[in-house]
Amino acid sequence: MFPEIDRVLITREEIAARVRDLGERLSADLSRDLEADGHHPHDEDRVVLVPIMTGALVFVADLIRTLPVKLRLEVLGVSSYPGQTVRSKGARLKNELPSVLSGKHVVVIDDILDSGRTLALVQGIIGEQRPASLRTCVLLSKDVERAAVVSADYQGFEIPDEFVVGYGLDYDGYYRNLPEIAVLKPAALDGPF
Ligand code: IMP
Ligand code: MG
Repeated sequence: MFPEIDRVLITREEIAARVRDLGERLSADLSRDLEADGHHPHDEDRVVLVPIMTGALVFVADLIRTLPVKLRLEVLGVSSYPGQTVRSKGARLKNELPSVLSGKHVVVIDDILDSGRTLALVQGIIGEQRPASLRTCVLLSKDVERAAVVSADYQGFEIPDEFVVGYGLDYDGYYRNLPEIAVLKPAALDGPF
């Protein structure tokens, strides 16, 4: 699809199968929690998914369509990679959390867990609101030493320490529309790292 792609790491079929697995596990777990509260999966105002924009956009779009649960989305913008960068420079919130999450079952969704700063920041902010439960779900987890102590409750794939693009993940804002997870040719990563 793009000449700058070096190789595909995860195909669209592998992603689709794994997203279905994650969805099944997540809905089973959420349904169990709701029942424990005396609620039904179709009761209103119990479940809120918080996708971290913009990387989680494609993942959350596919994931929510596997969840037969009444839920709301509250998007959160976090910036960690200004421009042509392949290393996290620390996470910063771009918008306030739009609504009260206390007492709700909250699932934070991100594309990839790398240094851990993004998830740690978001978990901390949401945790202060005392949700009924707080889960984290990432499509990818990079096999690196984390800068922040954090883990994901649901993770799609573990990948080596390489910079990847596609399925929502970008380099300098591009390649989010690639349907698979891929590695760029080194010559394409010519930013000031
Ligand atoms: P962390 O805060 O270092 O864990 O990084 C998480 C954020 O950095 C993710 O939400 C992604 O947007 C971005 N990120 C980390 N690794 C990659 C990558 O390999 N490709 C594209 N974006 C990445
Ligand atoms: Mg991100």
